[in-house]
Amino acid sequence: MSTTTAGDVAVHRGAPEGNPLLAATDVFAGYLPGVDILNGCNLVVHPGELVGIIGPNGAGKSTLLKALFGLVRIREGSVTLKDEDITNHRADSLVRRGVGFVPQTNNVFPSLSIEENLQMGLYQAPKRFEERFAFIVDLFPTLGDRRKQRAGSLSGGERQMVAMARALMMDPSVLLLDEPSAGLSPVRQDETFIRTRKINKAGVSVVIVEQNARRALQICDRAYVLDQGRNAYSGPGRELMNDPKVIELYLGTLAADVEAAASAAPTAEPEA
Ligand SMILES: Nc1ncnc2c1ncn2[C@@H]1O[C@H](COP(=O)(O)OP(=O)(O)O)[C@@H](O)[C@H]1O
Ligand SMILES: [Mg+2]
Repeated sequence: MSTTTAGDVAVHRGAPEGNPLLAATDVFAGYLPGVDILNGCNLVVHPGELVGIIGPNGAGKSTLLKALFGLVRIREGSVTLKDEDITNHRADSLVRRGVGFVPQTNNVFPSLSIEENLQMGLYQAPKRFEERFAFIVDLFPTLGDRRKQRAGSLSGGERQMVAMARALMMDPSVLLLDEPSAGLSPVRQDETFIRTRKINKAGVSVVIVEQNARRALQICDRAYVLDQGRNAYSGPGRELMNDPKVIELYLGTLAADVEAAASAAPTAEPEA
């Protein structure tokens, strides 16, 4: 690491050497004029890596994924894919170039069958359906057995599997997942993490945003902690999990967020 500057080491601690597959550099982005949600975000993903993004609610994790996928305008900074600039490229062109994105919610067409959902994922290259469907069924055999079933009749965990499979139809080199375990029971969450690992082992680089920070850190090669639209910490997942500062500031905070959200719910109506 002697050729890397001290700043780079701190920002991407533990990253392999060589050219990244996907890189975001000093990204500023937001929804409203003059209000930046991302305040200089940095992220690199090397070929084959499983990279986690954790951090408190509202830190900008989803915004970062959307900015990478051309859904939130980047005002400053850049995103590259295999050394080509893709800053503010449109989502459909990014899909063609090998970026897959699974949003947190509304990520399947409930009235369509599993098979039709997968066809939608491949609308830009319909001729490849049989080949890609075979890859998906190899990875997730249930989807083959139940290909005619309506996606709306599936459980939350199964729907997440369909959403991931749909994004995989275009054979992406990197898959962006926004909180795939959200709202699932612990057993279903585990299945989601196992599926994510399986996708990664099949050769797809993965960026996973997770509210379940501990679990994410267990499965990730490396992770970034985002706070207020900036990288607060980064490093190998297991190192971050045992880092006293990360535990105190973020793993603790996340637990507190969940408790706060749970206790805030019944008192949310001021007029009552
Ligand atoms: N569509 C939107 N319009 C305006 N502000 C938004 C929108 N989506 C998110 N935000 C704001 O951006 C900030 C970061 O949100 P988000 O990226 O969803 O955080 P996280 O995913 O880390 O919980 C929050 O303050 C949120 O209120
Ligand atoms: Mg989010």
